[in-house]
Amino acid sequence: AATTRLEAENAVVSRGVVESNHAGYSGSGFVNGDNISGSYTEWTVTSAAAGSATLAIRYSNGTSPTRTANISVNGTVVAANRAFPATGNWDTWATVSITANVNAGANKVRITATTADGNGNLDYIDA
Ligand code: GCU
Ligand code: CA
Repeated sequence: AATTRLEAENAVVSRGVVESNHAGYSGSGFVNGDNISGSYTEWTVTSAAAGSATLAIRYSNGTSPTRTANISVNGTVVAANRAFPATGNWDTWATVSITANVNAGANKVRITATTADGNGNLDYIDA
């Protein structure tokens, strides 16, 4: 199926802000989540059909430690403590891909920080 790019700046942000002070992002900016456990960004991913979907998450992590997040679909964690490794600096972006089962229609995909480091900066999901 065709890929749709879902910009983080259009997603729902709990404890974080949309910013554009680092280069290389897509769209009009990225989400800088608060550096606390539990901060999240949630996208609505619409699928034509139920089944396995690939979710490609673009992020940056300009710090040394790997950041980790629980990725959930419709409230079920499908990737626990998923690693978002360092990208070298905040202007350098990388992609973490997961596969998950989705419903036909709208799905809530949430990326929730699981440590006090928060999430990496989040740019988009290609779904
Ligand atoms: C810096 C950077 C932010 C980033 C933050 C972090 O403040 O400018 O974009 O989100 O570090 O450590 O999460
Ligand atoms: Ca941050």
